[in-house]
Amino acid sequence: MKKDIYLDYHATTPVLPVVAEAMAPYLREHFGNANSNHKWGWKAEMAVSKASRQVADLVGCEPSQVYFTSGATESIHWAIIGWADQNPGGTIITTATEHKATYGACEWAEKLGCKIIIVPVDEFGFVQIDAIKKELGKGPALVSVIHGNNEIGTINPIGDIAKLVHSYPNSFVHVDCAQSVGKIEVDFKAMDLDYLSFSGHKLYAPKGVGGLLVKDPESLSPLFIGGGQQRGLRAGTINVPSVVGLGAACQWCNQHLDAEKARLSQLRDSMIERLLTTDQVLLNGHLQQRLPYNISLTFETTTMDKLLLKLNNIAFSSSSACASKKPEPSHVLMAIGRSPEQASRTLRFGLGHDTTTEEVEIVCSLLIELLAEADPFARP
Ligand SMILES: Cc1ncc(COP(=O)(O)O)c(C=O)c1O
Repeated sequence: MKKDIYLDYHATTPVLPVVAEAMAPYLREHFGNANSNHKWGWKAEMAVSKASRQVADLVGCEPSQVYFTSGATESIHWAIIGWADQNPGGTIITTATEHKATYGACEWAEKLGCKIIIVPVDEFGFVQIDAIKKELGKGPALVSVIHGNNEIGTINPIGDIAKLVHSYPNSFVHVDCAQSVGKIEVDFKAMDLDYLSFSGHKLYAPKGVGGLLVKDPESLSPLFIGGGQQRGLRAGTINVPSVVGLGAACQWCNQHLDAEKARLSQLRDSMIERLLTTDQVLLNGHLQQRLPYNISLTFETTTMDKLLLKLNNIAFSSSSACASKKPEPSHVLMAIGRSPEQASRTLRFGLGHDTTTEEVEIVCSLLIELLAEADPFARP
């Protein structure tokens, strides 16, 4: 029987045993509401404070700047809509390679009176900083940029972008770090960011929990209003077990970041190197400035369906997880100049903590074997 191989770590990651162990007591024994003023509540509140510190240690911010949410989609919506609510005539500048959550939040912000500008990227997927510059200095602005791209892995130069944005008055930066937190260095303070979004389930914590980092809480309206939780900015009873899991996962990522990054980059590079030896494969994104676990390849073969059928024991994605069931070509691949046809022949492989050298070897050999049998794309 063929071995099942999971190479879809951009879509989601398994919960680490150490994370599940940290969470378990908060499901039954310490079930208190972190807002309650008694022993059970204090225990839960202490666990949430510890998780805030664990997140802060990983991403270089103050624990008081951490707000827990249900994940990156909520965090992105809160950053963009919360800012738009305070700056109804302002401009939101974003890029052509964002996650759909950003475009959704921008549509909402447009209804609140904001102007939305989408700036292009280059052939590798790097945002064109000059295009951002042209839009600044015309009034309040929020620049919302993806850090590590979820489809092609390109890592945007966030520090440079923030420096530019902050050289203009009343200008703010939000970064979508859903794919980068826990995988590469992310430092909220050193990068000089205003808002940062991330999701727990991309870094070995459970699904349905994440965070928004906020430099100045006065700059943002709350998205949820209710019981005054999280300093009045994000109402709703805190999901204590998941927040504890998020904290434990951040601590684990902090301790293992360098080693995991080095190991996965090496596996990534060996896979890319082997597959690029055939002229039927094109790499999407930049060779070096990419997430250590991302491999995005366009296959120049007319027999893609046959190839996909033979990969049925391997989990990968044909674009982003949420879009992979939709037939439209990926906006990210289109933005870097691939044709809709090429986009339909593109596969994304994502490596992670449980990925072994042997698994990568099996997938590479299989792909090379299949490509040798496949009909190459007719070139003029
Ligand atoms: C870059 C990026 N941003 C935002 C999201 C949304 O995250 P979630 O579905 O956890 O809310 C994702 C999820 O794939 C992502 O990859």
